[in-house]
Amino acid sequence: MHIGARVRSVAPPGIELINAQARRLRAAGAPVISLGQALPGLLPDTALLGRIHPLLNEPDSHVYSPVAGLLSVRQAIAAFLAQHNGVTFDPDRELILTAGANQAFMLALLTLLDAGDRVLLPSPYFLNHETTVRIVGGVPVEVPLSPETGFQLRVEDLRPFLGSGARALVIVTPNNPTGAVYDPQEMIRVAEAAIAAGMTVITDEVYQLFVYESARHSSLASVPSLRPHVLTTSSFSKTFGITGWRVGFLAGDATFIEETGKVQDSMVICAPTIGQKFVVAALSGGLDGVLRYREVLDARRRFLTERLARIPCLSWQPTAGSFFAFVRVAGCTDSTRLAHDILEKVHVGTIPGRVFGVYGEGYLRLAYGAVELPLLAEACDRLERYFAEAPGKR
Ligand SMILES: Cc1ncc(COP(=O)(O)O)c(C=O)c1O
Repeated sequence: MHIGARVRSVAPPGIELINAQARRLRAAGAPVISLGQALPGLLPDTALLGRIHPLLNEPDSHVYSPVAGLLSVRQAIAAFLAQHNGVTFDPDRELILTAGANQAFMLALLTLLDAGDRVLLPSPYFLNHETTVRIVGGVPVEVPLSPETGFQLRVEDLRPFLGSGARALVIVTPNNPTGAVYDPQEMIRVAEAAIAAGMTVITDEVYQLFVYESARHSSLASVPSLRPHVLTTSSFSKTFGITGWRVGFLAGDATFIEETGKVQDSMVICAPTIGQKFVVAALSGGLDGVLRYREVLDARRRFLTERLARIPCLSWQPTAGSFFAFVRVAGCTDSTRLAHDILEKVHVGTIPGRVFGVYGEGYLRLAYGAVELPLLAEACDRLERYFAEAPGKR
């Protein structure tokens, strides 16, 4: 059957290739440790599950919600954003609930772009953003970020692209895959430059609660002068460990959000209704559990900092957010081959930096969200052994 050019232009998912290899090895009895998937390693606790069960008895849990989602859920999310991000969205007109932040991003692009429009992706980028731009008929443009600055996004990085006529700039902070938390003042300057050049700025803030040490998340939509030109995408997938419930949101200008309804209705009709209610149940329990869990993640991050520093050919300048170590491998020119070889030889799953764009080549992404310390220690032992024994493989 014919496959359309837009989908043909998308590379097969590199992460899935690694996962498939890991499944094959596991099935053959290998003790695989996965540092691959972007899972927070957190699951809803029994108290939260207790609040969920009664929802099943509510008839409206089982049917379509309004296209934009249940108003009560939008109100709860608007209250969260007002309290934590200092931005006020009208829940009735400026928020639409989606099947996760990924769908929010696709909804934003389908509403915003004309065929062939360019979208600037600071690179290394979140790979689903690149594929989504292609699938909707846009053209992804990689804006290289510098490892020397810890992959911060600076105006000077953007400057060469300001005259390119791009329709949008995507800002992911805290970042996947680099873990960078963008400096708030510089991010404002970047957004001002992009907006002055005619772009809409789309933010992705799914890791906003996972920031460490003195880093603070800041939301561009909270800056009044920028707000009309900013679309905010996010979800609670990572926050509450509910990646399978598929609820996120897109927030922004009321007219734009109204137009997204046409796309949403055609695509999914609405975000999963029971999942929408789950988010309110989770939010009503407060954030103490997540904030305690953040300490656990930070301990893993500090552990990795120390352990990776002992492996001579690896370098990681620890970044302050999400739960990824984006690690440079000295001499590596084919991270895909390297990641598959590491998995085959020492059974540690990592993600090749190349799947995050041209500027990710030479790196491996290690996700530490779902790996407890003893297992993380074992993974580091194995990596140390691999690089001691196989220096020529890079
Ligand atoms: C930066 C980023 N955005 C969005 C997503 C997808 O989130 P959701 O489950 O809300 O679709 C992920 C998942 O890994 C991510 O890392």
